[in-house]
Amino acid sequence: MTRYSRIIGTGSFLPSRRVTNAQIVAQLANLGIESSEPWIVERTGIGARHFVEDGVFSSDLAFEASKKALSAAGIGAEEIDLIIVATSTPDMVFPSTACILQGKLQGMNEASKAIAGAPAFDIQAVCSGFIYALSVADALICAGRANKALVVGAEVFSRLLDFNDRTTSVLFGDGAGAVVLEASQSPGILATDIHSDGKYTDILCVPGHVSGGQILGDPLLKMNGQAVFKLAVSLLEQTALTSMKKAGLESKDIDWLVPHQANIRIIQSTAKKMGLPMEKVILTVQDHGNTSAASIPLALDHGVRSGQIKKGQNLLLEGVGGGFTWGSAVITY
Ligand SMILES: CC(C)(COP(=O)(O)OP(=O)(O)OC[C@H]1O[C@@H](n2cnc3c(N)ncnc32)[C@H](O)[C@@H]1OP(=O)(O)O)[C@@H](O)C(=O)NCCC(=O)NCCS
Repeated sequence: MTRYSRIIGTGSFLPSRRVTNAQIVAQLANLGIESSEPWIVERTGIGARHFVEDGVFSSDLAFEASKKALSAAGIGAEEIDLIIVATSTPDMVFPSTACILQGKLQGMNEASKAIAGAPAFDIQAVCSGFIYALSVADALICAGRANKALVVGAEVFSRLLDFNDRTTSVLFGDGAGAVVLEASQSPGILATDIHSDGKYTDILCVPGHVSGGQILGDPLLKMNGQAVFKLAVSLLEQTALTSMKKAGLESKDIDWLVPHQANIRIIQSTAKKMGLPMEKVILTVQDHGNTSAASIPLALDHGVRSGQIKKGQNLLLEGVGGGFTWGSAVITY
């Protein structure tokens, strides 16, 4: 009998500090940089984003989202036998944010201590990270190497932003989303598709690195917005078509597009190319901004908890990010 993986619970978490466009525009103005609320809304669709306070890390956001996903799945942390965290903003250089998360899950209650021993690792594929993590977890479950996986996207992108750069500081936010995947005889994840192309490293990057106790190079985000935009629009269509073909589905079979929430115009363009009306798109970009690897699971959890996404419906998840990386998944929820 074919073995599949299936989502049995979703959860998400946003830090409480909500930062509006008006606040970002005022912050830029204080530095003598011109921007405007209408520009941000028209060019990106973003109205607000959430930023962490000092001392809060990706693993803290991941922990909150994971607790909600476990609760929605109706299982204890001790049942999890694989943890993957997608992040480009890890708490430390090492150990991985996934290991730190596992330690926090052990502390939930007496029973949860038994999660110790479960393999835990991070995946770094920037904004495509959650699709990569989902793809790897699905493969391990289908191969019989895991039974219940916790797959998380968690980011504190606010720490990478250059608030002197109006072209990037308005776009990103912090947050986390999580899903619990379980081995199942019924599908589940129908198809995943992941790719990268290293010749585009410099169009979206944080070029700094740690060496000899110092940060060398620039540790703030750099982006060629137009190049990213063009590439994103064409690659998202390609990967979405590939995943749907692998799953044996057509656009008419998709109930919800759950896209990476980078920019409303990229989302609209992909939906149009896929022949999906905007009524079938889960949108959170207006409230979350681009939360990188957290954006897809945050949107998924929002769709589930708002009652839009229902059991048995077909979902198309897709994203692009630095690397350049891109990928998609077709899922029966
Ligand atoms: C960044 C992005 C919103 C810029 O929008 P755009 O329509 O391409 O705008 P342009 O880069 O052509 O810039 C147009 C003008 O707006 C200006 N501008 C940029 N940011 C601005 C801001 N926050 N406020 C006001 N003006 C701004 C530019 O400096 C430029 O001014 P100029 O004509 O005087 O040089 C857009 O390119 C984008 O979304 N790219 C993809 C980014 C992304 O999603 N990255 C993550 C992928 S995972």
